[in-house]
Amino acid sequence: MEKTEFPPHVVIFPFPVQGHVNPMLKLAELLCLSGIHVTFINTLSIQNRLSRNTDIQSRFNRFPGFRFETIPDGLSNKVPQTYQETHKVMVIFDSLRSTAKPILKEIILAAGCPSGSSEVTRQGPVTCVIADGILSVALEVAEDVGIPILYFRTASAASFWIYLCLPQLIQNGELPFPGNELDVPIASIKGMESLLRRRDLPSFCRVDSVDVPIFQMVLTETQKTLRTKGLILNTFEEVEGPILDQIRNHLPKLYSIGPLHAHLKNKIASESISQSIHSNSIWEEDKSCLKWLDDQPANSVIYVSFGSLVTVTKNVLTEFWHGLVNSGQRFLWVIRHDSITDNDKEAQIEEELKEGVIENGYIVSWAPQEEVLAHTAIGGFLTHSGWNSTLESIIEGVPMICWPQLADQQINSRYVEEVWKLGLDMKDTCDRVIIEKMVRDLMELRRSEFLHRANDMTKLARASVAEGGSSDSNLAGLVQDIVSMQR
Ligand code: UDX
Repeated sequence: MEKTEFPPHVVIFPFPVQGHVNPMLKLAELLCLSGIHVTFINTLSIQNRLSRNTDIQSRFNRFPGFRFETIPDGLSNKVPQTYQETHKVMVIFDSLRSTAKPILKEIILAAGCPSGSSEVTRQGPVTCVIADGILSVALEVAEDVGIPILYFRTASAASFWIYLCLPQLIQNGELPFPGNELDVPIASIKGMESLLRRRDLPSFCRVDSVDVPIFQMVLTETQKTLRTKGLILNTFEEVEGPILDQIRNHLPKLYSIGPLHAHLKNKIASESISQSIHSNSIWEEDKSCLKWLDDQPANSVIYVSFGSLVTVTKNVLTEFWHGLVNSGQRFLWVIRHDSITDNDKEAQIEEELKEGVIENGYIVSWAPQEEVLAHTAIGGFLTHSGWNSTLESIIEGVPMICWPQLADQQINSRYVEEVWKLGLDMKDTCDRVIIEKMVRDLMELRRSEFLHRANDMTKLARASVAEGGSSDSNLAGLVQDIVSMQR
């Protein structure tokens, strides 16, 4: 059959939260730079937020083969700001399952239809779909219309591998377990035999029954990956090679092409494009913190942020406040407006915890995180161990204190402390005395030990995305495979 005159055209469909949209937009930009046409599907609420970010608009405007499409999410009344994070994810998931299928199908079919709008037909027929690995609604559509589909998982390879092994853990009687005796070892995951304890498994494993919706969702969505043409991961061989090899036994087409933010930066530099990199933030960044950082000594500030989903009680916030202040270290702290739960209305937050400068610290509601981590004043990162944050820290050689809360974060933090030795794992505690001690350890007492490891890891990460590096070669392989999917 004759090949189409158009370049390949990929439809990308992320799960609509910051930590997923961000890396999938970076992937979209990398594919556009490789000459591939991209339709990027956002829910209306995400698109509305992104359209306020003029950097994103102008960056993508430079690609005539790129187009945003939107689908309604029907969520505006359903997700109160203060919802606990796993609940929020489930509400969004259920809503998309019931609304996305016909619209997604229409978008794909319209692209291949000669009577479509000129903007649509300019992109050519859809070659393949790249969907978020928890959106099997896209898999069903792709199978219906006979188009290849690849999955993209935004989290670590280690977490994906555990999700894939969940049936085996159940079969071996290691799951489910109640939320106690968390130091019991977990023996049956290949490649992690002497590493895992119950507490390092994803948070949703701490259940009495596997019938809990979030558990069922991850279990079934992950198994469906085996029906796709391949899996793209935002990781690199040098950091997760042994686990990637385990996954390849089940999914031979595995593309580890991260850290995506650094990969994109490199490509833009090598193409001599005079466009500086900006973030894919769906919230407005408070850049005033960069000016404050300019006035701080090198490596003196610990950056504190728990990503875009984690919520905290006022009591937890107060423990962090005392721990940070008592450590005597300077800190830059992100406290999102929607992050404080109101289930402890009686609790008092410290008077000082307002945005702006405070003694020894600075508080913002959303920071330009990539720029913050790259700033010379930053010496450590107190993080929830979200995978994007972990990679952003690794690229900048910033040691971490990990306070994981949900899903993949529990295993990411275990790797940070035990395998990569890039910092300290503070999971399952939140006490001002422990926080104070860990901050001092990270920033002073054990600083040279962690810095040494962090610098080595940074070199590996940067080499992986440099020309000919592992992630760079895997991206070339991905592009080649997409080209060969053209009908
Ligand atoms: C979630 C999961 O926690 C994560 O593990 C998964 O891989 C993706 O979805 P999130 O909890 O938001 O994401 O954490 P993280 O993965 O770290 O992503 C947060 C993103 O927001 C990062 O790219 C970070 O740079 C950005 N961010 C965070 C800001 O730009 N400013 C901030 O103030 C805080």
